[in-house]
Amino acid sequence: MATARAHTNIALVKYWGKRDQKLILPETDSLSLTLDEFYTTTTVEFDEQLTADQVTINDRLLDKKNSQKVRNFLDLVRQRSGESAYARVTSHNHVPTAAGLASSASAFAALAGAASAAAGMSLDRRDLSRLARRGSGSATRSIYGGLVEWRKGDDDLTSYANPIMEDVSFNIEMLAILIDTKKKKVSSRYGMRQSVATSPYYKVWPEIVAHDMVAIKQAILAHDIDAIGQIAETNALRMHALTLSADPGFTYFNSDTLRAMNAVRTLRESGINCYFTIDAGPNVKVIYDQRNRQPIYDALTKQFGKERLVVSKPGSGIKIWND
Ligand code: DP6
Repeated sequence: MATARAHTNIALVKYWGKRDQKLILPETDSLSLTLDEFYTTTTVEFDEQLTADQVTINDRLLDKKNSQKVRNFLDLVRQRSGESAYARVTSHNHVPTAAGLASSASAFAALAGAASAAAGMSLDRRDLSRLARRGSGSATRSIYGGLVEWRKGDDDLTSYANPIMEDVSFNIEMLAILIDTKKKKVSSRYGMRQSVATSPYYKVWPEIVAHDMVAIKQAILAHDIDAIGQIAETNALRMHALTLSADPGFTYFNSDTLRAMNAVRTLRESGINCYFTIDAGPNVKVIYDQRNRQPIYDALTKQFGKERLVVSKPGSGIKIWND
């Protein structure tokens, strides 16, 4: 039996598209910030008595359909470790509000850590990152804390995350604006496949990312939060252009997403530097220097209410316990 805790991460240069669906090999590199406030704790126990894998998330037992990805992942761990028993998986997503932001990044990173340790494999962080990748691409990066890149690599062996700055030594902070949606969302898995297959703009995406990766790493070295924010915001908008330009086109934005984007632009026009990024959902994350937090927090509280805002500092890498 083993337990692992992994934090979620938010990409500043996005991963959007796979060149191998099964191995989850990405079309491009990507780079993210691991967040302190959002994490998943998962315990895995292989038990000869079980007749099937049993997956419980936030005290709710998942049915066969909803546990499919987790069970596939456990099959991979069994195949690699020689473990033959089914597993009991108990997972908790720690998010500061009920409004969501549960993430497959922290979930599969924690599962990779707990399942591999419970099966007696002792993987270094690079191999853990490769294993987490097989659950969900963004989980590759959640093995490490702080600023992390995922190199697309040439194959399964060479596609893993690399820490750029695990202990972030400057004042970058992220504020999530939690925008509720009752609408069923388009999964990132499906969304990116559609973009790759049908957006006529997808062919320039790898060039955009290659350029942004170089620029953001320079900005990180220079501790230049404005440059990091500008690159992240432009990169996010270009990623979302790939959804709008797919056939059929779609978007993750709703009217509150647009409202939040405008609030960030208005703050900037008033001389308070901050930038946004958005993933495969309507929530907006704001990037800024923590010394600017108060006016940003106050302005966003007026528009969205305190209960929808979560401030987060950079978070740490995975922790694993053999219990
Ligand atoms: C927009 O990692 O959720 O958050 O690999 O299919 O599980 P799968 O996708 P996932 O996609 C993340 C997309 C993104 C950008 C990013 O995190 O880089």
